[in-house]
Amino acid sequence: MDSLNRHEDYGQSALDETHLLADPIEQFKAWLIDAEAAQIYEPNAFVLATIDAENQSRARTVLLKGVDQRGFFFATNYLSRKGEAVAANPSVSAVFGWYSMYRQVLIQGIAEKVEPQESDDYFASRPHDSQVAAWSSHQSQPIQDRAALDDQFTSALAKFSNSDVPRPEYWGGYRIIPTRIEFWKGRSNRMHDRIEFVREIGADGQPGQWQVQRLQP
Ligand SMILES: Cc1cc2nc3c(=O)[nH]c(=O)nc-3n(C[C@H](O)[C@H](O)[C@H](O)COP(=O)(O)O)c2cc1C
Repeated sequence: MDSLNRHEDYGQSALDETHLLADPIEQFKAWLIDAEAAQIYEPNAFVLATIDAENQSRARTVLLKGVDQRGFFFATNYLSRKGEAVAANPSVSAVFGWYSMYRQVLIQGIAEKVEPQESDDYFASRPHDSQVAAWSSHQSQPIQDRAALDDQFTSALAKFSNSDVPRPEYWGGYRIIPTRIEFWKGRSNRMHDRIEFVREIGADGQPGQWQVQRLQP
């Protein structure tokens, strides 16, 4: 476990306020494109943290499947642990760690279920077997053994062998409406750059203007 004792130098290349686009969502897209170009494995993977009804936090990896001015879209099982947590407390945070680029993006916000039509459209774009898998797994529920899980998949495959697979009601998308987006760039001597964009969501549900500030590393 050599990595536990390694002290990597994250380099001189700076992240200056002037390097960043004025809109953090556009800046995020630019970094995602950079991560794709750098051939990072699963560049759209992020760690999603939630807080459940018992105030217990939990984090797990999910895949970003859309990003636009409305926010960050991912899909999952609404009855999973994360789905139950978001129902109890919509405050979530997300971490994109593009470590080989010395880059990290932290997002805080509110997760909302997307409209059913948007979930339908995304579900329809998935490969057939992934659609079947959504019917075959009660995500986060215990199961006796692997054979029982395989049986569920085989039964669902047979059920939908000659038909389109409809979206299960319990499966769909969420959008994280961001209130904070921090861009982190590793620098030498642990003097990293951190630029944070912050905005508030008004009582009418409309987000305000982004404010930008530099944070100490
Ligand atoms: C690279 C990677 C991508 C994943 N993408 C998703 C995803 O998009 N949606 C999802 O529900 N689970 C995804 N998972 C599985 C989750 O990490 C997690 O095991 C699952 O969603 C159940 O989490 P929960 O019990 O906390 O709800 C992914 C796991 C990995 C390692």
